[in-house]
Amino acid sequence: MGLINKLWGTLRRPHQKFALGLLLGVGFLGGVIFFLVFHFTMNATNSMDICISCHEMEGVYEEYKESKHYSSPSGVRATCSDCHVPNGKTFGDYIDKFLAKLTIGSKDIFHHMIGTYPTREAFEKDRWHLAQNVLKDMRARDSKECRHCHSFEAMDMEEQDKSAARKHKRVMESADKTCVDCHTGIAHKEPKEPESEKGKAEEKPAESSGAAK
Ligand code: HEC
Ligand code: HEC
Ligand code: HEC
Ligand code: HEC
Repeated sequence: MGLINKLWGTLRRPHQKFALGLLLGVGFLGGVIFFLVFHFTMNATNSMDICISCHEMEGVYEEYKESKHYSSPSGVRATCSDCHVPNGKTFGDYIDKFLAKLTIGSKDIFHHMIGTYPTREAFEKDRWHLAQNVLKDMRARDSKECRHCHSFEAMDMEEQDKSAARKHKRVMESADKTCVDCHTGIAHKEPKEPESEKGKAEEKPAESSGAAK
């Protein structure tokens, strides 16, 4: 209480304009610093080094390094977070990204801490489920992650093989499917459905790359 009275006192004395200006200035500076730290954290946690500090031993990284998304004639690389964190330029995209980090990030750290996957075998056993989580999220966002780089509009369909062009044209018009309905296993080995899960219709794995109808 004493402190508030004192503060009021300072504000009401003749130098109140100065005091108010100081308060506003400090507030503004605090805002800028907060924004910079926040922005830096959002970017730093997107870096591949952070992801592979935990995900290196399971094979997802090795498989990715064999893929076209790691190395290709065009020299454009998609990093882990390009595909696993929704990216974009609008404010809404930024909120999506923040929420994804908050939920996925805290889940990753939690499972790491309690040691959910002590061995590679344990990870392999659960991989199909993890893959389904990823695909479910991607479908829910209509493969927004992929569309950050790819778009039907920018595709030279004349140059694509006939079946790809035919399918892409159809999907472009009807929007009845999304990228990951047809393209799975593009950065890691194709997820394999365990015998025990077969027949559970709603969790059917997506059609694999190239094998699409
Ligand atoms: C502190 C260790 C740690 C870090 C850092 C980490 N992960 Fe994970 N991640 C895990 C663990 C443990 C799981 C298994 C979680 C589970 O069982 O749900 C996991 C699961 C996943 C999954 C499986 C899908 C899911 O949501 O369940 C994806 C995709 C993933 N991480 C991507 C990333 C990416 C991309 C980064 C870097 C931006 C990253 N992880 C950083 C430990 C980590
Ligand atoms: C950071 C940009 C980027 C993102 C994000 C991205 N891609 Fe790609 N993708 C590329 C580039 C560049 C190539 C071309 C590589 C080459 O020159 O062949 C490519 C190639 C492909 C290919 C053909 C080669 C192959 O591996 O079969 C498919 C299919 C594909 N992407 C699908 C996807 C899907 C599905 C997603 C989302 C899960 C996605 N991409 C996310 C940049 C990206
Ligand atoms: C209905 C199924 C289907 C959907 C949906 C679909 N594709 Fe394809 N796509 C194919 C088939 C089939 C091919 C040819 C075989 C292959 O490369 O997998 C192909 C090929 C590609 C290629 C390689 C082209 C080349 O000639 O190098 C890229 C890149 C690609 N698709 C990206 C995408 C992206 C991004 C989306 C979502 C915006 C998407 N596809 C949606 C079926 C589909
Ligand atoms: C081109 C997009 C793309 C890139 C780049 C990518 N992933 Fe994935 N990831 C996927 C897709 C799509 C799935 C869903 C399963 C599938 O189709 O392979 C997946 C699945 C996963 C899973 C679940 C387990 C599994 O094997 O399916 C983990 C963990 C994971 N990714 C981590 C990573 C890490 C770590 C990196 C970087 C070293 C990375 N991913 C790079 C697209 C990508």
